[in-house]
Amino acid sequence: MALPAGFLEELRARTPLPAIVGRRARLTRSGRQWKGCCPFHGEKTPSFYVYEDGHYHCFGCGAHGDAIGFVMQSEGTGFMEAVERLAAEAGIEVPKPSPEAAEAEQKRLDLAGVLEMAQTSYQRRLFLPEGRNALAYLRGRGLSEQTIHRFGLGWSGEGRGALAADLGREGIVPQRLVDAGLMRRDDETDRTFDLFFNRVMFPIRDRRGRVISFGGRILGDGQPKYVNGPETALFSKRRTLYALDLAREAVRGGAPLVVVEGYMDVIALDQAGIGGAVAPLGTALTEEQLEELWRLAPAPILCFDGDAAGSRAAARAAELALPLLAPDRTLRLARLPTGEDPDTLVRRQGADGMRAVLSAAAPLSEALYDLLRETGGEATPEQRAAFRTRLEAAARRIPDRALAGEYRRTLLDRFFAGRGAGRRAPAARPVARPSPAAGSVSGERCRILTAILLRHPVLLGDIEHAYLGLELPQPLAALRTALQEWAETAEILDSQALMTHLTNSGLQAEADQVLATVPVPLPACAASAAMPAEAAAGWWHIFGFLNVQRLSDEIALAEAACAQDLTQQSQNRLLALKAALNKVNSGEPDGVDLAA
Ligand code: UTP
Ligand code: MN
Repeated sequence: MALPAGFLEELRARTPLPAIVGRRARLTRSGRQWKGCCPFHGEKTPSFYVYEDGHYHCFGCGAHGDAIGFVMQSEGTGFMEAVERLAAEAGIEVPKPSPEAAEAEQKRLDLAGVLEMAQTSYQRRLFLPEGRNALAYLRGRGLSEQTIHRFGLGWSGEGRGALAADLGREGIVPQRLVDAGLMRRDDETDRTFDLFFNRVMFPIRDRRGRVISFGGRILGDGQPKYVNGPETALFSKRRTLYALDLAREAVRGGAPLVVVEGYMDVIALDQAGIGGAVAPLGTALTEEQLEELWRLAPAPILCFDGDAAGSRAAARAAELALPLLAPDRTLRLARLPTGEDPDTLVRRQGADGMRAVLSAAAPLSEALYDLLRETGGEATPEQRAAFRTRLEAAARRIPDRALAGEYRRTLLDRFFAGRGAGRRAPAARPVARPSPAAGSVSGERCRILTAILLRHPVLLGDIEHAYLGLELPQPLAALRTALQEWAETAEILDSQALMTHLTNSGLQAEADQVLATVPVPLPACAASAAMPAEAAAGWWHIFGFLNVQRLSDEIALAEAACAQDLTQQSQNRLLALKAALNKVNSGEPDGVDLAA
């Protein structure tokens, strides 16, 4: 910051916004705020509001800011010039910034300017003939033109290069687009590439409404579905909540603060008149985001999708919240019907359907009980004892002593009440005990997965997480340990070198057994001659048959990795995983059988 934060606070405090706006627009009191016709776009009915906290917002054109922003926007000045004018009027002196601080601030403002220009470019393209399909896509998803404007949605242009061309005309060089997280530089060739093309663009704004990054959605189906900008000087994923700027207004107006999973959920809710919704940016909710939420409301509602991933996300968020809870900082959890997200729910059941879900939100103490129960059974005394231990451990994680005591009591009351009601076991998932035949098919699958890795150890990097999570019988587990040890120090992940290592480790017979082609030949993907991509595709396909849930988990991780850093490699990996899931879902055989 070029200016000490305290100075800007003081300047804002001494600068009554209604008076400043009043020079440009006639304002009248409307409850606790002022309203009038927007000075930034022609309108006859007022949709421009000035709030007590020193911000203005136009619901017509989206203009938004504080006193400084107002001067910048209405008089076309830069940030420092606006500050100097307001300071002069308020009779206070602007502190001289240090040269380093001034440079850093200039850089930050430059980025903000570039992002604004990018938004303008994307928005303009959406309404040009080239944006026809994108606009039709958004309308097809039920968005009104007003909503499209309110969220600043745009179109990236079809091929690469559109943005650089638009901004180049404004004198913006590609490096600035790289700094702003709109392009990436390939380190090897030193060339710059667009991050976003062929995508509907969702500006991501900070809590004050300034654009700090973008998310881009492909039209219709395709992978990855969303791409988000990388971390930059302005944009930190873990600190940002999508649409917080708009949700703040709604929450001040009395709406509940709701966390949903997706951009489109936020937008659909807002259009339906449910305005207090925000979303994390394709990652799990973070501690910083929780703090941000609590700054606005003491008990925000988490409303995750009605699927297994949604429950896991809720459980994770609850875990994260426990050590941060205080009497005025808690959460509520709402459960969507299975298979719905907020967007589909308001479409099917209207705003009232969604309101019903929100008003049925359970306090964290109650939801926690169910979430902890879902992670294990309660059919046997041992399981019940373990469950009770989990409940007590959860309560102990709350630092506020009094609150921890209340949680403990609430959770245990329910635990003992549950026993009176009889030990219903539905929450306890039946332990999968495969039939002997199924057992040997899955044993065979584990063998083939290992065989593929012996032939193509280069895959290790891509499949490691999934591979380590497998429950392997012997000797496959021993081979895995040896493989891992070897990979940690090996210079190149080459099959020949691996086999030598296994021989030296006394595992040759085991390796040979895994690679045996009698009585059943190995599938083609396990052959030495297979291309790495073919081997990877086969590996995931077989893995999916072993455990489709794990495959979905890997997809979620890969999506997050793409959102974090979209590279050819992360994208290929995601594509391979998705292809495998499709094959598993459509029942396409993975080539593993016991026929002999
Ligand atoms: P969803 O797939 O639930 O999003 O992902 P959505 O909003 O319902 O998507 P559509 O448009 O209706 O199909 C939730 C969020 O996860 C992130 C995005 O932030 C998305 O809004 N995400 C999802 C990604 O970052 N990348 C992806 O490939 C998918
Ligand atoms: Mn959706």
